Amino acid sequence: MNYYIGIDLGTSSCKGLLVDRDGNIISSSSFDYEVYSPYPSYSEQNPSDYLLAAEKIIKELSKGRENDIKGLSFSGQMHGLVILDEKDEVIRPCILWNDSRTEKQTDYLNEVIGKSTLSSLTGNIAFAGFTAPKILWIKENEPENFKKIRKIMLPKDYLCYKLTGVFTTDYSDASGTLLLDVKNKCWSKRMCEICSIKEEQLPQLNESYQCIGKLLPKYGLPNCIVTPGAGDNSAAAIGNGTIEQGECNISLGTSGTIFISQDKFSVDKNNSLHSFAHANGKYHLMGCILTAASARKWFLEDILSSFDYTQDEKDIENVKSTDVIFLPYLAGERSPYNDTKARGAFINLSSSTSKGEMSLAIMEGVAFAIKNCLEVASSNGLEIKSSTICGGGSKSRIWKQIFADVLNIPIQSLKTEQGPSYGAAILAMIGNKEYSSFKEAKKHLISIKETIYPRKRTDNLSLKYEKFKKLYTLLKQLY
Ligand code: XUL
Repeated sequence: MNYYIGIDLGTSSCKGLLVDRDGNIISSSSFDYEVYSPYPSYSEQNPSDYLLAAEKIIKELSKGRENDIKGLSFSGQMHGLVILDEKDEVIRPCILWNDSRTEKQTDYLNEVIGKSTLSSLTGNIAFAGFTAPKILWIKENEPENFKKIRKIMLPKDYLCYKLTGVFTTDYSDASGTLLLDVKNKCWSKRMCEICSIKEEQLPQLNESYQCIGKLLPKYGLPNCIVTPGAGDNSAAAIGNGTIEQGECNISLGTSGTIFISQDKFSVDKNNSLHSFAHANGKYHLMGCILTAASARKWFLEDILSSFDYTQDEKDIENVKSTDVIFLPYLAGERSPYNDTKARGAFINLSSSTSKGEMSLAIMEGVAFAIKNCLEVASSNGLEIKSSTICGGGSKSRIWKQIFADVLNIPIQSLKTEQGPSYGAAILAMIGNKEYSSFKEAKKHLISIKETIYPRKRTDNLSLKYEKFKKLYTLLKQLY
């Protein structure tokens, strides 16, 4: 039997999945690491932690099957900046996707270089989490480090480089750097000039499923080909079968995303959504909200010191409806507002508000924020008829029902819930020609477990959503 390893380099942990060629999950393994926040708005990690975790995972998953592991690929948290010097040493900790120190550089790109120039060069505008503003930040704030840079890469590309010796990235992850001309799939020379870097400092571009080599002999897997893999949202979309025009996947992790597959490249009117390459060789539109399942974690674990998610679900089920509205902007907001200063809020609290109502408002607020992105995609002519869902937050049945109600579309969960790492394993299978196309792989490997349909609700969810949007406009003046 042929086996494949999918590695998902997440924000809180690295997860690995061993899958056979028929998609059966044989085993999984995961290692946590720290996110460091030396100052508010900073979010950093040590790339050496990534490598340590991935090496342990590969060893654990491949034990006893060393000759039968036929491929390995990656899914990675996007936009992070890893820089290496001339000795291939990491120069400073990786700056992550949810770090918002680059407000000044983001404003410079959007206002001085100009949004329309950026959009014509890359298909996107600057968001604080993207990689290009981070490069400018290093140039301005750590000039000594900037001078030392020989290689610039994304988190999962660091893993690939260390495990294979090949300095490469894929188009989906490269899209989030703001250095890629997404439509034409090449590095933008002008963006390199704007960031004072040379194209040679950037990795070679490949499709996510293209074989780029093998694991280094020291890993003891002689038959294991490697493909560069994809940004975590594209990998999750592959793992959930979101590959055809208009197909949609929602991911509820630390961040929340709505990912809509597109055959052709397009941008929305205000560039509110990300126009990125997909891991299947095509394109997608994506809305990213910075706080999703992490809002629930914050409220339960940090504020209420509770880890009892089951009781929380019971508390929510006991609430018929609530006037309480929650704005989930705990870390500012990416799509559609692009506002690092936005902050969270509970509105309409009274002395009779229960904890269940507040928990329900959190779930609804995150669903409203995703709807806010979906509306942009719809206004761009995309008709979204249903969506799959994945990520930690999607383990909650009640939250999936809320998504179905708020978005007014059926929500599907899949038999295999490990979207990104499963998607990475599929990218390795395609790289090893186990399946001749994504369509064929989907037919063989992906099936729906449950479809949750929108309910007829007696409370006025649409009115509440309109209030939710108005609240941002009103509170914006006070942030
Ligand atoms: C996408 C984004 C996040 C990270 C999280 O643009 O920033 O979803 O990829 O891992």
